[in-house]
Amino acid sequence: MKLVIKGRRPLTGSVKVHGAKNAVLPIIAASILCHGESVISQVPHLEDVYTAVEVMASLGVDARLKGSTLILNTGGLDGFEAPYELVRRMRASFLVTGPLLARLGHARISLPGGCAIGTRPIDLHLKGLEALGARIRTNHGLIEASASRLVGDRIYLDYPSVGATEHLMMASTLAEGTTIIENAAEEPEIVDLANYLNAAGASIHGAGTKVVRVEGVNRLQGVRHQVIPDRIEAGTYMIAAAVAAGRVEVRGVVPDHLKAITAKLREAGIQVEEAESSMLVDAIGRRPVAVNVKTMPYPGFPTDLQAPIMALLAVSDGSGVIAETVFENRYIHVDELKRMGADIRVDGRTALVRGKRMLYGAPVSATDLRGGAALVLAALAAAGVSEVRGVEHIDRGYDSFDANLRRLGASIRRVRAVPAEEKAVSGLGGGSAGSGD
Ligand code: UD1
Repeated sequence: MKLVIKGRRPLTGSVKVHGAKNAVLPIIAASILCHGESVISQVPHLEDVYTAVEVMASLGVDARLKGSTLILNTGGLDGFEAPYELVRRMRASFLVTGPLLARLGHARISLPGGCAIGTRPIDLHLKGLEALGARIRTNHGLIEASASRLVGDRIYLDYPSVGATEHLMMASTLAEGTTIIENAAEEPEIVDLANYLNAAGASIHGAGTKVVRVEGVNRLQGVRHQVIPDRIEAGTYMIAAAVAAGRVEVRGVVPDHLKAITAKLREAGIQVEEAESSMLVDAIGRRPVAVNVKTMPYPGFPTDLQAPIMALLAVSDGSGVIAETVFENRYIHVDELKRMGADIRVDGRTALVRGKRMLYGAPVSATDLRGGAALVLAALAAAGVSEVRGVEHIDRGYDSFDANLRRLGASIRRVRAVPAEEKAVSGLGGGSAGSGD
């Protein structure tokens, strides 16, 4: 599939964000810990969610997505192995390891594959599970983990990894005694996961701070839970409005989760008004002024919006420097942006972006999720027609992206790429199998 975009139409109107991908994926994994049924609402329709549902089904969990409600019943949980095909497709599948260990005492998972946004080790996950008493062996691309009962411990994370914090928080809910996770990540999605688990009977304190304390309990029971709004989707639409010189209200958000983005857009001279659950971005008649951006763990500027903000800098007045501190090698979208006329020079983890008054439509290829969104944003601002191939990467993380942009006034059509084009995209960048953002 490809998106055919005719640029330079102002975006105006209102868009509502969906539930957060990065909250719902760990919550789906966490449902394994709970007896009975969990009913999760505000679930976005995304390829990654469908993959997570397949992982659950492969473990014997009855998982049904009806509209935006996902019903997970673990009554038939009988598998402890997540198939290679699914872990390869989505790195977050690996998060079932801890819950399976805690609930069944055993887990067998394929090593998450290489991915398009730099090497993403899982050492912190494994070290933490070992600290909780798991025996872990890796051979032939498989991780075998076992433990008769996990036992709480004090775990210091060398880096505040989102996935490792979530993984260890989940595993320790059913451990004996107290677990303390230090230098924990503080992302809102971690708080959402803790809220789900606490409602199910867990005892987690301090989620959203650097120290998370988990008192082990004997049993969790499935509950109803509503997923928080997707701050990355919201931020993408906010940046889209700024790139396309539009005026867009982004609804259904938690403004507090968007502080870093709001601050950057205001610094770039874009008007942003905050209401209780919406943000109004007004860039009509304004060209953004170049800013410097450094990605950081929350509450810093999110790495998942690094590519979209690069599209903004590419059309801004002046030069800005982007420093990507979270992931190595997260600049794979740069060459494609250059094809549209962007002036970007990458040196290691920094990128110097010299703003151009105009970008030009071109055929480009998405090779990862957020990089793909950035190409669409750049195409909205570019003169002429762009074709963005590799839409399946964008579909992993944005529900109704093109339909929403079309409703805001963009000229954007989804068309089937001819087979030779599809082949050309899948051969790019080593593929992004296992890319886990
Ligand atoms: C999550 C998000 C992703 C986001 C990222 C950072 C989900 C499903 N994905 O990914 O969208 O970009 O947070 O905000 O929630 N690291 C290690 N060892 C480990 C684990 C991580 O060195 O065991 C490193 C990674 O290579 C990376 C950094 O830590 O450089 C951050 O990764 P992490 O916070 O774990 O990201 P994910 O949980 O994979």
